[in-house]
Amino acid sequence: AGAVAGMRGQREPKYWALKQHLLDLLDVLPPGSPIPTERALAGEFTVSRTTVRQALADLTAEGRLHRVQGKGTFAAEPKLAQRLQLSSYTEDMRKQGLKPSSKLLELDELPAEGDLAKLLGIRTGAKILRLRRLRLADSQPMALETSHLPAGRFRGLRKHISSGGSLYAVLREQYGVELERAEETIETSLAGPQEAEMLGADVGMPVLMLTRHSFATDGKPVEFARSVYRGDRYKFVTTLLP
Ligand code: GLP
Repeated sequence: AGAVAGMRGQREPKYWALKQHLLDLLDVLPPGSPIPTERALAGEFTVSRTTVRQALADLTAEGRLHRVQGKGTFAAEPKLAQRLQLSSYTEDMRKQGLKPSSKLLELDELPAEGDLAKLLGIRTGAKILRLRRLRLADSQPMALETSHLPAGRFRGLRKHISSGGSLYAVLREQYGVELERAEETIETSLAGPQEAEMLGADVGMPVLMLTRHSFATDGKPVEFARSVYRGDRYKFVTTLLP
């Protein structure tokens, strides 16, 4: 039972000591600082270069390190601390001082089946609008979002959705819809090949999977959305009150 580097979950015992050391180091290093070379780390911890590379790759996928081809490995910028509130991606990124943009990947109509029909408060077979977008900030891919809306309530939505625009702004300005509340769930997952490609990341990198089920002031469901956020770029923040 030797240590097989690269096999998920299999790490040489010394790997963990090295990783902990790097995490402690990253707690004090300012973002952008270079970290010791592979050779230095391998020497100091008496581990193979393969084990060092594994630790660096894992910390990169976790968003703690940033690697620049041909330059080296640096302490990463802090993740975006995103408040959990009923705001739009566009507003969220502007608040962070970043420029939001989107790439429209898909906009189609399909008949509602089972759960989705129920979630959107429409009968089975009624039309759903499905909107798939890649969401970027300062031109960097951040999330993939798939929104489902009841097509009947939002006739003509197609022509209002511009590639980069805000869905919530369209709902407000074109349909007079104000959102009142939403149920959101957050789970972890690992990027699959398609997600990884769209997000410009490696397959298997940690992602945060969110679902949002939102309701308008009239109590009716408006959107059921699934989003996949890069785990290396995001953390979510909320205030807890007793
Ligand atoms: C967030 C939500 C999505 C929602 C989107 C609207 O990202 N998770 O459910 O569709 O905001 O953002 P925008 O108005 O920028 O399109």
